[in-house]
Amino acid sequence: MKHLLSPLDFTTDELEQLLDLARDISKNRDKYSHRCDGKKIATLFYEPSTRTRLSFEAAMLNLGGSVLGFSSANSSSAAKGESVSDTIRVISCYADICAMRHPKEGAPMVAAAKSGIPIINAGDGGHQHPTQTLTDLMTIRELRGSLNNFTIGLCGDLKFGRTVHSLINSLIRYENVKFILISPKELCIPDYIRETLIDNNIPFEEVEKLEDVMPQLDILYMTRVQKERFFNEDDYLRMKNFYILDKEKMALGKKDMYVLHPLPRVNEISVEVDDDPRAAYFKQAQFGVYVRMALILTLLGLDKE
Ligand code: CP
Repeated sequence: MKHLLSPLDFTTDELEQLLDLARDISKNRDKYSHRCDGKKIATLFYEPSTRTRLSFEAAMLNLGGSVLGFSSANSSSAAKGESVSDTIRVISCYADICAMRHPKEGAPMVAAAKSGIPIINAGDGGHQHPTQTLTDLMTIRELRGSLNNFTIGLCGDLKFGRTVHSLINSLIRYENVKFILISPKELCIPDYIRETLIDNNIPFEEVEKLEDVMPQLDILYMTRVQKERFFNEDDYLRMKNFYILDKEKMALGKKDMYVLHPLPRVNEISVEVDDDPRAAYFKQAQFGVYVRMALILTLLGLDKE
């Protein structure tokens, strides 16, 4: 049984197949509308979510299946002290596949060890967010035509931003991808990510000022300062408006640069940027449904006609 716990659980060939399937789904929705008839997805969200949970539910409904689950730990028996291991043993009796978000790093891996159904890591603490990475890869591939040969600037909270960690881990497997890591020192990437870049001889630089590197970027990946992971409110308040992408900064970027953001956004992208044709973050959220449909089909072995 295959799970998706880390973005590296799929080889690049498997990812290519999954992204091809997601593209086919986006163009031929009717063809897939009964592929999961009779199947159920459990969405176990111990942390808040809008896109990930609802796009998983939309994905399963689009495939003809059904959904069950909870959207906060407080509305589940976790509030009474039930362990993730026990919960998943029970959920395995109710559903065919499970998407889990949890504040503790590694919780979906703990669940997978006891699960009778495929587990999808829908975000574990500040660690990884592999299905956001699938969404990001699909977005970059659809917009640029390839996952090779580009410069990506990752900007904002690179310390706690799990989408950034997953995306870097995944993109280093492609050719000629250069990383520009844009953050204040206090929010720079964790050492283990930097070591991965160094060990794999991946070109990268770490800078603080977004304006200085804008002209070099093919993709600008903005991120929110992750309030929920800060230990004290004052540090968050000091950092929360460190970067604000506005029209003035967009004017420094290439005409064919794209702006991605996993969302939710707070202040880091001014709403005036939304009308710029290079703003791709809402399109990215739409791709998230197609890629999750492809993932559900793949993990359930229903991806072939
Ligand atoms: N991108 C993302 O994970 O959004 P949600 O927190 O709304 O699921």
